[in-house]
Amino acid sequence: MANTNFEKYKSDGSFGGNVLEWVDARFPLTASIKGHLTEYYAPKNFNFWYFFGSLALLVLVIQIVTGIFLVMHYKPDAALNANGVPVAFASVEYIMRDVPWGWLIRYMHSTGASAFFIVVYLHMFRGLMYGSYRQPRELTWLFGVGIFLCLMGEAFFGYLLPWGQMSFWGAQVIVNLFSAIPLIGEPLSIWLRGDFVIGDATLNRFFSFHVIAFPLVLLGLIAAHILALHETGSNNPDGVEIKAKKDEKGNPLDGIPFHPYYTVKDIVGVVVFLMVFSAIMFFAPEGGGYFLERPNFYPADPLKTPPHIAPVWYFTPFYSILRAVVWPIFGIDAKFWGVVAMGASVVIFAFLPWLDRSPVKSIRYRGPIYKTFLTLFVISFFILGYLGTQAPSYWGEKVSQLCSLIYFGFFLLMPWYSKVDKYRPAPDRVTG
Ligand code: HEM
Repeated sequence: MANTNFEKYKSDGSFGGNVLEWVDARFPLTASIKGHLTEYYAPKNFNFWYFFGSLALLVLVIQIVTGIFLVMHYKPDAALNANGVPVAFASVEYIMRDVPWGWLIRYMHSTGASAFFIVVYLHMFRGLMYGSYRQPRELTWLFGVGIFLCLMGEAFFGYLLPWGQMSFWGAQVIVNLFSAIPLIGEPLSIWLRGDFVIGDATLNRFFSFHVIAFPLVLLGLIAAHILALHETGSNNPDGVEIKAKKDEKGNPLDGIPFHPYYTVKDIVGVVVFLMVFSAIMFFAPEGGGYFLERPNFYPADPLKTPPHIAPVWYFTPFYSILRAVVWPIFGIDAKFWGVVAMGASVVIFAFLPWLDRSPVKSIRYRGPIYKTFLTLFVISFFILGYLGTQAPSYWGEKVSQLCSLIYFGFFLLMPWYSKVDKYRPAPDRVTG
């Protein structure tokens, strides 16, 4: 008989060790658990802002698991059924009314979409506060920006699937934006839709992007994001590098093993998150019309434009920036420059590691100019977000123009203000 490790028992009679040895000889199981959990030394001073990375992973799992069950019953078909209702819309209603626990699965997924953006925005804000994007974590940050772009695409494609009025008209408005690109705009938007208007072909391709193409890319980027972070080690609220001071075993003096210390701490974050998540899901799944918009309770009707078309709340800051641009430049339509400004407002995050010239990373040791700019940036982001949900107005336009200037000013003026700003020298070791 072949001699395998399975035949051997350990001296204490247990069998498990040998199976593990067998696996470890063929796959780095123990090495990975050690490298990423039990011997991954994380700074000992993490605060609650460090919950949001693991919470983003939790929401990702919620979205994938609920998504798998939704796909079992959802039908991406724009044709009308015997009752004159589009099949896609009717299949979502079927999930809500007839599929056992279907309502729960659907509300978990729709609330999960908004929760994803809340968690990711807080996660990014933490990065801004503590300078987590800076050397040596530039790649972690760049993968993060890639994740953010991908997440926006994922949410946009998913929103068309229920085939409600807002699904249809929202997609119509956004895809039409591409027609503003000189020369290639018109054919490009037809190519994207697969039709002259949003139709069955669009629904089918968005379905394919939403359930397979984008999730695959998202998963790959998230894996790269975490691998890059574990290569450099985590930043922390003091913005000091814990690897600079090590004990005789080579472990950072200010580091503690991720497992069990932070796995246990993260469970606290998960419990609080799930309480809030459940409260919304069970008591206010429409999120006051922000998580599930009212016009989307009506089936898509290409002949009836809703009076006010607005994207879902997590896109509205960027949508406001698009609408703030009202002047044609070089004879090219303002809509085109609006699209450019909207794209730039997301991509500009990627340049942060090279825009920041401050000698310190964390906001704790930065001076008043940075703190003022960051505060103004956040306020502008909220105002832009609010204005994007509203119908266009004279003052809305003026205020969104001012807020867009502040938004871009935060980034573009950073090389200057981060250099001239006062700062306190960061400590050698992390503080409490
Ligand atoms: C699906 C979305 C995302 C997931 C699952 C995710 C996951 C994680 C996890 C698990 C961590 C380590 C724990 C922590 O520091 O909180 C982390 C750290 C980090 N993430 Fe993300 N992330 C996501 C999106 C983003 C985005 C959009 C950005 C920025 C544009 C970003 C930037 C960062 C940075 C800079 C760190 C290091 C923070 C530090 O060490 O202080 N992440 N991420």
